[in-house]
Amino acid sequence: MSIHIYQDLVHFFSAKISDGILLPGDKLPSIRSLAKQHDVSKNTVIRALMELEKKALIEARPQVGYFVCITAKEAKVPKQLYPKLVPNEVSVPAIFYDIMARSAAFDILPKATQQQPSTHLVELNRHLSRALRDSVHNKSMYYDSPLGLASLRQQIKDRYRMRELTLNVDDFCITSGCQHSLFLALLVTCKPGDNVAVESPAFYGVLQLLEQLKLNVIEVSASSVTGLDPLELEKALSNWQIKACIVTPTFATPTGATMPDAAKKQLINLANSHDFAVIEDDIYGELSFAKVVTPIKALDTQQRVILCSSFSKSLSRDLRIGWIAAGRWHNDVVRLKLTSQLASCQTQQQGLASFISSGGYRRHLDYFTRTLEHQREQLLIALTKYWPRQIRYTVPQGGIALWLELDANLDTVKLYQETIKDNIVITPGVLFSSANFYQNYIRLSFNHATVGKREKAIKRLGQLIKNS
Ligand SMILES: Cc1ncc(COP(=O)(O)O)c(C=O)c1O
Repeated sequence: MSIHIYQDLVHFFSAKISDGILLPGDKLPSIRSLAKQHDVSKNTVIRALMELEKKALIEARPQVGYFVCITAKEAKVPKQLYPKLVPNEVSVPAIFYDIMARSAAFDILPKATQQQPSTHLVELNRHLSRALRDSVHNKSMYYDSPLGLASLRQQIKDRYRMRELTLNVDDFCITSGCQHSLFLALLVTCKPGDNVAVESPAFYGVLQLLEQLKLNVIEVSASSVTGLDPLELEKALSNWQIKACIVTPTFATPTGATMPDAAKKQLINLANSHDFAVIEDDIYGELSFAKVVTPIKALDTQQRVILCSSFSKSLSRDLRIGWIAAGRWHNDVVRLKLTSQLASCQTQQQGLASFISSGGYRRHLDYFTRTLEHQREQLLIALTKYWPRQIRYTVPQGGIALWLELDANLDTVKLYQETIKDNIVITPGVLFSSANFYQNYIRLSFNHATVGKREKAIKRLGQLIKNS
């Protein structure tokens, strides 16, 4: 009965939006008044609002309310697929190593000229050089403490305060990147043969880790707009024991999806009642174009969320500096870091901490997120100009990538083999699943401007897709 009631509400609002009665940017009434107007419970209203978010028709703005999405009129997001909720061994396709060898994961034209570095990145280099100059004898004679430089952890802690997450400086441990943090998180929570839930489509780096650590994956369906579907996870939990769930709740790759607060709460409730670790990949957390997005870790009352992140996407991949806040597994993680890495480079951390405390990182992020938003628009315009009309794609409000669904008969691995002849490197959808899903999907990044040679490459790709 209640299913019908919430679906009625979804239809009611979908129709109002498609008929133009509710316009992009319009605010919906509060949950309480909607419940009153429609004579339903608040939970029914919340469920309907979550469904409308999933369809990219409305968006939640924390502490303000729900609004009709700016893009709601033309929303045509890729279809959500539902992998079987069973554990599987992972086998990463060879094509993945080919793409990585071309340094092409986020650039369709890796050999094309690069953009000029921003003044902020030049400033970062100045801080790093200064730290190198000051690092004479003393640092070369001692390893850094396993936790990493306190002044850098302080800066990271302060950044999270702005996202409503309060932790202590000593809750963080510096790592050599987010991939390293995810590796540590899996090692301390799971042993070979255990089941790990991941959102589907998933970040291929996670699938690689599961393969290497001999862990089984349970792929849990995720919407391209609102991310991991807690109801699907609940179904998996009714049949299988799950040791950890890895999720990128904020601007996930490949979709750009962000989980609504209600779904994050549902996930935490499931983790608490079924006793599993939530491994939160927050690498895109600061790349929001509009609102600040709170990490799941802020809802963690049982120390079971392991927060993993790095500066790779928000500042520089080449720094190789990340962090982990592992809650109840903190001591295990620190010991494992000591075992696997001994220590992080003090000079590099020093330069970075000094750059952040000078305000350079904040200025860089302001500039960088505006640039990314502009580049997203450039890419969307190029897609409208050069690609078939019927493609479906996400319009993420942050991060660096779009997720596209092409014609059902198009095999994007075959397309990859075609495009590579023109030195154009796409990221086929099959990389994001171990169940051979997403054959007609690709990820495209807007990390680079779609101008000049890259615009020509998008045009060429459009031709190849039309001819396929
Ligand atoms: C979701 C996600 N997590 C982790 C990583 C790895 O990050 P790092 O370079 O910090 O190891 C990436 C890189 O593409 C990523 O997209």
